[in-house]
Amino acid sequence: MTQPKDTRFMDTIVSLCKRRGFVFQASEIYGGIGNTYDYGPLGVELKRRVKEAWWTRMVTLRDDMVGLDSAIIQNPKTWETSGHVAGFTDPMVDCKKCKGRFRADKLADASCPERPSKRPGECGGELTEARAFNLMFKTNVGAVEGAGSIAYLRPETAQGIFLNFKNVLESSRQTPPFGIAQIGKSFRNEITPGNFVFRTREFEQAEMEFFIPPAQNDQWYEYWRKERHSWYTDFGIDPTKLRMREHAKDELAHYSTGCTDVEYEYPFGWGELEGIACRTDFDLKRHSEASGKDLRYFDPETKEKYFPWVIEPAAGVDRTALTFLIDAYDEEEVEGEKRVVLHLHPEIAPVTVGVLPLVKKEGMPEKAHAIESELRRARLTTFYDESAAIGRRYRRLDEVGTPFCVTIDGDTMKDDSVTVRHRDTMLQDRVKRAELVPFLQEAIRGWKRPVKKG
Ligand code: GAP
Repeated sequence: MTQPKDTRFMDTIVSLCKRRGFVFQASEIYGGIGNTYDYGPLGVELKRRVKEAWWTRMVTLRDDMVGLDSAIIQNPKTWETSGHVAGFTDPMVDCKKCKGRFRADKLADASCPERPSKRPGECGGELTEARAFNLMFKTNVGAVEGAGSIAYLRPETAQGIFLNFKNVLESSRQTPPFGIAQIGKSFRNEITPGNFVFRTREFEQAEMEFFIPPAQNDQWYEYWRKERHSWYTDFGIDPTKLRMREHAKDELAHYSTGCTDVEYEYPFGWGELEGIACRTDFDLKRHSEASGKDLRYFDPETKEKYFPWVIEPAAGVDRTALTFLIDAYDEEEVEGEKRVVLHLHPEIAPVTVGVLPLVKKEGMPEKAHAIESELRRARLTTFYDESAAIGRRYRRLDEVGTPFCVTIDGDTMKDDSVTVRHRDTMLQDRVKRAELVPFLQEAIRGWKRPVKKG
């Protein structure tokens, strides 16, 4: 695989996303709203696949995991207790001249709004002293606005899991070690969002809290570090672009015994894709103290009551979808022309099978529609296309990462066989219609990431 090496690579991804309907600027017709995005028809499928791949591996295939879908707006005491009201802040500075606001610890990554080629403060303006800016969005609940009605949009899904620990324990018959997984929207009033959907103010998280006996902390931390790394590589992410960055002692929260970021080498540098944190018993203990409810677990074997410790793998869905797009992007020359292709894992690709009648006559469209229905009934996502020359149609589907195309031609009309064209190799197989579904299912199971050329 070869990718453009220059800084315009992100522009290429952004423009592909807009052109092919992955991601649009939100409220575009009104001029947008700072770094907020909507997902189009292909983007929504991509994100759905990412979430499904996460949920299947984290919940469906395990017997020590259950799911949860907790509210976005919780009792505000949640966030006082978790420490978010007092401490979920970034240091912020203002430029006295251009009135721009920047994260004091990320000045090197920001640009002056008046002179985008300059860094903050280089427009001749003086920067204020840094002050703490809370990232939580405030809102009012109920018909009366006032101090008593203030609530927050959750800045992480994790706290909803802690609040429900006892409910899940009592209703699911799980016992430590076990996990509660949740996927949902979170909100942070980021001072400087950026790099497309990498950092936005509204985003989806896929988080899991794994509750364990305290003595098993190290063993489960190591387990989840390995498991989460292999999730990315099993779904085709280039392992040479992934690294596990262990936090230094002075980076850790005071209650934490360890934290590792799964980082990816983006076109704009290394960035955090996911954090795997040892949270000890901090959250359950704090919520227990603040609510007066006993959130300890009673171990019937040892007759001991204790607060389970927690290992937390916390990923960003939008960031993961973006990473899959960037990592899969490839340009190559085929017959003197540039072929753009996304080598997405077939279980991540938004469309699995393109269905293409060779010509728009001789009964081929009708046959193609019938075959498409069979594929859909087998839960394969399809896209029917009968316009333009077959080579062009292949290219259009390559560009959005469709791993297989099924072509219906003159022979299909005689012997009910079709051509299956593979996106990565561009090789073709002739397959009997009756064997098409198992053939594609086998090809999905056996998919391997193409080897890098340069
Ligand atoms: N409960 C722990 C927690 O929320 P985090 O590192 O702040 O940890 C977890 O967030 C993941 O959520 C990050 O690794 C990232 O993938 C994603 N994330 C965080 N802030 C984000 C933002 N502003 N935009 C997009 N994704 C974000």
